[in-house]
Amino acid sequence: MKGLILSGGKGTRLRPLTFTSAKQLIPLANKPVLFRVIETIRDAGVTDIGVVVGPPTDEEVRAQVGDGSRWGVKITFITQDRPAGLAHAVRISRDFIGDDRFVMFLGDNCIQGGIHKLIRQYADSDYNSQIVLKQVPDPRSYGVAVLNATGGIERLIEKPKDPPSNLALVGVYMFDKHVFEAVDAIKPSWRGELEITDAIQWLVSNGRKVFPYIHTGWWVDTGKREDMLEANSLVLEELVPTVDGVIENSEVDQRVTVEKGAVIRNSIVRGPAIIGENTRIENSYIGPFTSIHNDCVIENAEIDRSIVLENCEIRDIPARIHDSLIGRRSVVNRAAQKPTGYRLMLGDYSQVGLA
Ligand code: TTP
Repeated sequence: MKGLILSGGKGTRLRPLTFTSAKQLIPLANKPVLFRVIETIRDAGVTDIGVVVGPPTDEEVRAQVGDGSRWGVKITFITQDRPAGLAHAVRISRDFIGDDRFVMFLGDNCIQGGIHKLIRQYADSDYNSQIVLKQVPDPRSYGVAVLNATGGIERLIEKPKDPPSNLALVGVYMFDKHVFEAVDAIKPSWRGELEITDAIQWLVSNGRKVFPYIHTGWWVDTGKREDMLEANSLVLEELVPTVDGVIENSEVDQRVTVEKGAVIRNSIVRGPAIIGENTRIENSYIGPFTSIHNDCVIENAEIDRSIVLENCEIRDIPARIHDSLIGRRSVVNRAAQKPTGYRLMLGDYSQVGLA
């Protein structure tokens, strides 16, 4: 069994962060989503892993991931010259996969409880493919599956207006070599991409055995800001807290991780939360579901349910910052000079919500 992680794509919904960095490298509880995906696959016993990367973020992903030895896995990078769809990513991975069965995992997805049961079930079966489904309250924004009388997949429908079931496709798929016939046979969709749902439908229509695996824990696709914050909250809730930094004259909950070199002074930190290495929190309130990454300074400010990336400075803020995703090296402060008002320098596609 091999692993295939898709870590290319456009990431348009997470601009401007994705102008300068891969969305798969945005951290949840201070660890990139992609690293969590690698660990999930490794924990299920799969150590030969291909990672699909594409410009402009391919160099950064290669540099951050390396050869995989730090996780005890072997990583092979596969370059996709343009984001031509998930099924296209499978097509170009053929040399790496060979005749092996494989698990494909979207590099921006996060799943609770791992995938070892799925891997075992697929390994013990004669299925050509097994797709992970989850019951969701409103399936209209997902790929939705219809099951047949024997419990196999009958049909997949992308974002149906009138969903025939509440079973949404989760970004984890098991395939054998027949998927390569499917990805060669299908044509690009209206959005110009080779769709993985079309490839799976092709397998079903051509008599291959495609079965569901129903996932019962949480699963988050981190493609948008709100989903990223939700995933960060869920991961923080499961984090086992450790304190390696310094806490002075502060109220810090038990569910707070304080990393090496961090200093929390005259502040309140409510968990679950994580304060990164060498970050200084002073005269501030950090509320639940917040991840502050390394080398940040937070002074005279209140932040909750947010992700703050490396090297940010947040100072003297008159209102609470919440539900925010703040990119690397950002500076947020209160200007001393008149006239009063908001003074902004925002990258293209930035989003600011002023109360
Ligand atoms: P998506 O989130 O569906 O697509 P995207 O990354 O282009 O994002 P957006 O819609 O915001 O523009 O992709 C799911 C995962 O698959 C993600 O990790 C990126 C990866 N991917 C590829 O590796 N190659 C591709 O051609 C595409 C479309 C996605």
